[in-house]
Amino acid sequence: MEIEIHSLSGTKTEQYEGLMEQVKALFSAETDALAKLSNLLALLHHQFQWFWTGIYLVRQNQLVLGPFQGPVACTRIDKGRGVCGTAWQQAASLIVADVHQFPGHIACNSASRSEIVIPILQNDQVVAVLDVDSKELAHFDQTDQYYLEQIAALIHFPLTV
Ligand code: SME
Repeated sequence: MEIEIHSLSGTKTEQYEGLMEQVKALFSAETDALAKLSNLLALLHHQFQWFWTGIYLVRQNQLVLGPFQGPVACTRIDKGRGVCGTAWQQAASLIVADVHQFPGHIACNSASRSEIVIPILQNDQVVAVLDVDSKELAHFDQTDQYYLEQIAALIHFPLTV
């Protein structure tokens, strides 16, 4: 099935509102988890032109790199390490205005300056995290957190990729 995706304009809120509809359309058009996640990351990344947009999947006792858009990244992150491992441990979203001030930040790429990480939960367990990096300081705010949490909540298919 063909899904036509248009680049969205307007305020950040308007762009996210439009994106929510596009994500729902993409998800309803496909059953395979890897295909859905891959298109989700492409959709988000290209709409907002972030530096890196990806998903790390909980695999036993580590986060392991999943589908992403952007430069080559670290493949494994321990629980409690870096922004991603901390969001996993705390089961909470984290906005980091300056990654170089975050204790234990994992610099997969020195160009990254700010970051937002959203845990993806299933049955009250973190099964993955959505990680977005920007080259600009303090790029992410509560609007990003609100909508990325809404998008994370749409991921209720098994993450068996
Ligand atoms: N900076 C992250 C690691 C993942 S990369 O940014 C893609 C962290 O500190 O967890």
